[in-house]
Amino acid sequence: MQIALRCRSQSQIRPFMHILGISGSLRTGASNTAVLEAAALLAPPGVTITLYDGLGALPHFNPDLDSQDGGQLPEIVDLREQIGRADGVLISCPEYAHGIPGSFKNLLDWLVGSTEFPGKPVALLNTSPMSVHAPAQLAEVLATMNARLIPEASITVQPRNRGSNAIDIAADPESSATLRNAIAAFARAAHE
Ligand SMILES: Cc1cc2nc3c(=O)[nH]c(=O)nc-3n(C[C@H](O)[C@H](O)[C@H](O)COP(=O)(O)O)c2cc1C
Repeated sequence: MQIALRCRSQSQIRPFMHILGISGSLRTGASNTAVLEAAALLAPPGVTITLYDGLGALPHFNPDLDSQDGGQLPEIVDLREQIGRADGVLISCPEYAHGIPGSFKNLLDWLVGSTEFPGKPVALLNTSPMSVHAPAQLAEVLATMNARLIPEASITVQPRNRGSNAIDIAADPESSATLRNAIAAFARAAHE
């Protein structure tokens, strides 16, 4: 009996996994940021989710400034190091004018020439079922960048109210179940 119990508990131990969450919205109180913060609150044992907070400070992408280390631009070195340390990336991005917000596309452009990003497991979240163009464009861009897209973890979580914060979303039974399932699917797929 003791052996059986020990085997079962060992099989439940998953390797540690670190996920980087990147919100495509710079807006104060952004729903996309709140959903990622809720995901961080709901992450199971052995999984940590931290949020990248440098989007607004990134310089405009310029190939002249690009090199493996971002030409030593500290913001680019930091972005690439954070990507490099992550086992996977959760992106939650709004749609602007049927497209990817410019500031978020700028971040992706800085990762095109990086060694850290290709092959990285990526899931796409969003907070609006109306947005169909930006997710499709993101999938195309990310595939071109050789990300490993995880469709089963790519979900829409629509907060109940416009002002919902991470705690509200994590406390909502439907949203939290959707997020928990997505994180579990992401962790499983990323370890394959
Ligand atoms: C400038 C602008 C353009 C937008 N264009 C679209 C659009 O084309 N399609 C859409 O579904 N939503 C559009 N929206 C709505 C946002 O995508 C939506 O409100 C999103 O949830 C905001 O995310 P946030 O709360 O994280 O900032 C637009 C919002 C803004 C501010």
